[in-house]
Amino acid sequence: MNKIRKALLPVAGHGTRFLPASKATPKEMLPIIDKPLVQFAVEEAIEIGIEEIIFIISPHKHSIKKHFDFSKSIEKKLIESNKKDFLEKANPENFKDLKFTYINQDEQKGLGHAILLAKDYILDEPFAILLPDDLFFSSCLAQLSEIYHETNNSVIAVNRIDSKNIHKYGVIDPGSINDRFIEIKSIVEKPKPEEAPSDIAVCGRYILNSSIFNYLEETSPDKSNEIQLTDAIKLMLKDEKISACIYKGEKFDCGSKQGYVEATISISLRDNEIKDDIKNYIKQLKI
Ligand code: UTP
Repeated sequence: MNKIRKALLPVAGHGTRFLPASKATPKEMLPIIDKPLVQFAVEEAIEIGIEEIIFIISPHKHSIKKHFDFSKSIEKKLIESNKKDFLEKANPENFKDLKFTYINQDEQKGLGHAILLAKDYILDEPFAILLPDDLFFSSCLAQLSEIYHETNNSVIAVNRIDSKNIHKYGVIDPGSINDRFIEIKSIVEKPKPEEAPSDIAVCGRYILNSSIFNYLEETSPDKSNEIQLTDAIKLMLKDEKISACIYKGEKFDCGSKQGYVEATISISLRDNEIKDDIKNYIKQLKI
């Protein structure tokens, strides 16, 4: 069985939709209550036994590296001030066995370009990609991993999208469908609503065979001069089968203001410390 050991987290984007918050703080470090978005993605990767997290990072996003570094000074302060309950939050146990690798993307030339930078780090094994903007409540990667091991084909996560929003996503042309996954016939990046081949859009989790790097190298930049992962997947489909897995569970697009607020409300309603107060607060709102 081909074990998936490495996960790529592209976090070099500009985060324009979250200005001014993203001016000095990477969008991926914005918290949902007390945990940055990027940590949710790392924890999801840990759930399927990933051993190495490879960040594609923009050189000024130091705080992401700092966040995942073991902090001796915080540990010391927490022990001295008898706040040991916070030790696990500051330096989670399950980060200690993980290898963190950082690759700089100096110019933001698109998601496909960011992924291609990891070619020499992945070599010839299957790997996962997680876009931290998308927050999944039950592990999406675990659902993909099951299908990957059953089919040995690359597999990407999808969900159904309202037609008014379909132009924001990669959209698949579905072939045969069974109760677990869909065969992808083709894929198109950000189609006009009237040209979308379906209402089934790609969401930010992938398990890909390393052959994707050959197709990324062949992919031409789009109108905005960015190399799109979707375009490389489209080329790959000419030679290889790729499955789509309809994610079962709750998902939030935290790259948009609406998704970010919805995720915050939803997580607050699961947090034992604050959920009753938040429920009462919502009930008394005169909407
Ligand atoms: P987005 O399309 O959401 O772009 O990227 P963005 O720059 O983060 O946000 P907006 O649209 O300007 O508000 C999807 C993912 O791909 C990464 C981003 O960091 C995000 O995780 N990305 C995008 C890169 O790593 N490099 C790029 O050149 C582009």
